[in-house]
Amino acid sequence: MAKARETQFFCKECGFESSKWLGQCPSCKQWNSFVEAPVAPKSKGAKKHALTSEKPVTLSEISIMQEDRVTTGIEEFDRVLGGGIVPASLILVGGDPGIGKSTLLLQVCKHLSDDGHKVLYITGEESLKQIKLRANRLGDFNDNLLILCETNLDLIEAHIRKSEPEMVIIDSIQTMFREDVAAAAGSVSQVRESTNMLLQLAKGLEISIFIVGHVTKEGVVAGPRVLEHMVDTVLYFEGDRHASYRILRGVKNRFGSTNEIGVFEMRMEGLSEVKNPSEFLLQGRPENTSGSVAVCLIEGTRPLMVEIQGLVSKSGFGMARRTAAGTDYNRVNLLIAVLEKRLGINIADCDAYVNIAGGMKVSEPALDLGLVVALLSSYKNKIVPVDVVVFGEVGLSGEVRAVSMAAQRVAEAAKLGFKTCILPKASLEEIKGNKSIKGLDKMNLIGISTIGEIPW
Ligand code: TYD
Ligand code: MG
Repeated sequence: MAKARETQFFCKECGFESSKWLGQCPSCKQWNSFVEAPVAPKSKGAKKHALTSEKPVTLSEISIMQEDRVTTGIEEFDRVLGGGIVPASLILVGGDPGIGKSTLLLQVCKHLSDDGHKVLYITGEESLKQIKLRANRLGDFNDNLLILCETNLDLIEAHIRKSEPEMVIIDSIQTMFREDVAAAAGSVSQVRESTNMLLQLAKGLEISIFIVGHVTKEGVVAGPRVLEHMVDTVLYFEGDRHASYRILRGVKNRFGSTNEIGVFEMRMEGLSEVKNPSEFLLQGRPENTSGSVAVCLIEGTRPLMVEIQGLVSKSGFGMARRTAAGTDYNRVNLLIAVLEKRLGINIADCDAYVNIAGGMKVSEPALDLGLVVALLSSYKNKIVPVDVVVFGEVGLSGEVRAVSMAAQRVAEAAKLGFKTCILPKASLEEIKGNKSIKGLDKMNLIGISTIGEIPW
């Protein structure tokens, strides 16, 4: 009889399994991402389950308690989760190393323990002293929070069963290992089997477990992408490490909407919530310079204002340079082509750079008009007044198309004191008579249907 294989090849990025090494992953198309690792242990002898253990039930027989979410008291965090933590859920918090995941979760622990919830914070990355130093910066903690330095999941399971917490934080999944999986901590099979074990603990003991996972492009550590399909909720914590703000983004949520974002600012005393992100992101906008315009976008369910900067300058070399920081490069190229063709201007021999100020990453159709206005303004060297906001999708024939949630965008701009709004004509028709938008009467709304009608 053929001997069963002891090792398999796994894709580090997505966890795809293959019996031989492959140069490119057929699943996620990543190059050079295959590593050899032992296969997961099979349970000895297939178990024959007695049919009587669980019988199927009708939906009406299942009772759910109303409002059983646990709110953390950090509003931005709760919103991204869809209104609080669902009991017995497994939540993955991913992000680059050093972005602030441990800080955020320790602050969540602080709020939860202050509210009387029993929380266990398990770290495999830092010593107890380091945690204490961090905690000192964040404020006073009470005794509902227990800290444990451990990486062996079998021991962790025993601790969880003994201390019976309501919430558990695992920081980070890449440092955890199971004894029965013969692979290094952080390898694909360890990470996957560890998560499996935590999943069973969460569902079996009805505790909510947060798992921290580092995202790494290179190196031997398995990316959290491997786990995305196993957990209930995936949050990514992102931001420019050099800028102080951080964005928590819901990527997957079985209990709420995704695309929701929470904005934080990293301070000396930990992360603080940014309640008015638009104001925050527009801080320090240059006045009286060409190539800068404010755009109102929708992230999840709320409007967000960002500044778009464009720079078009004569190219010194034969090849024009194009870059897009914070948004889709191909979209910018496409819009430049639309500008050339429909307005007859010649950007082909110019360098064109686009930047979303503050290091934000955005991609929404409504951004198009902002990109076009910023590029035009820089090309013609005409200043767009600082109290102007634009939004709208631009099509290939230069038409400006309607976008969703126009009323919310205009309301946000009005709230921040913008005086003029350039928007798609179709969206203008939609919100014209809308009395519920505060400050609409003070706003000068200009509806346009093609990019030829842009006033600058
Ligand atoms: P950390 O939570 O350790 O990141 P991660 O767990 O994602 O690797 O955050 C580390 C960074 O946060 C570090 O560069 C210092 C900074 N920081 C502050 O600026 N203020 C604070 O109060 C704390 C605790 C950290
Ligand atoms: Mg950490």
